[in-house]
Amino acid sequence: MNINARIEIIRGDITRLDVEAIVNAANTSLLGGGGVDGAIHRAAGPELLAECRTLKGCPTGEARITRGYNLPAKHVIHTVEPVWLGGRKNEDILLANCYRNSLELASRNRINSIAFPAISCGAYRFPLERAIRIAAREAQEFLKFHDFPQRIIFACLDDKTYQEYLKAI
Ligand code: APR
Repeated sequence: MNINARIEIIRGDITRLDVEAIVNAANTSLLGGGGVDGAIHRAAGPELLAECRTLKGCPTGEARITRGYNLPAKHVIHTVEPVWLGGRKNEDILLANCYRNSLELASRNRINSIAFPAISCGAYRFPLERAIRIAAREAQEFLKFHDFPQRIIFACLDDKTYQEYLKAI
């Protein structure tokens, strides 16, 4: 099947998506924050934070899976993306690792559908086009060699991000 047929780009709030897993743009503490991290914790409820506490944090570039609690999604995959520091501190590799490690967790847990926000493109100030190109490349590469996840959804809150994904996919 054509790889791009398994990738969807949508406008909307990731916390409302009825998919099996949504990805959280978290920080190394995994104890919540602003942006999509804040929105996911608000929608999932306090039990999400309680489970996150048991994980004792997560290094940048890696991912951890929890339940989704009050979210429509069954799971949350928390990944810790790099802060943009100008591009000479391995930011591209670390961001690519976030996608690869999140997709690895989805594959290992045989998750059918996974939605990503534009991780690192908000508070962490990663240049949008550069980050989206990495997201698209990693998603397409992963789907070439894996049956799970069956579907990858990129959930965009704003039109600029949405247009960038359309260009990249
Ligand atoms: N649904 C979909 N996308 C969202 C939502 C939402 N509900 N809320 C925010 N976004 C988008 C933003 O518009 C941006 O494009 O997610 C992208 C990532 O923005 P941030 O949430 O600011 O994440 P990031 O740039 O990776 O910074 C992560 O911020 O909230 C803290 O704890 C978090 O320290 C971490 C840092």
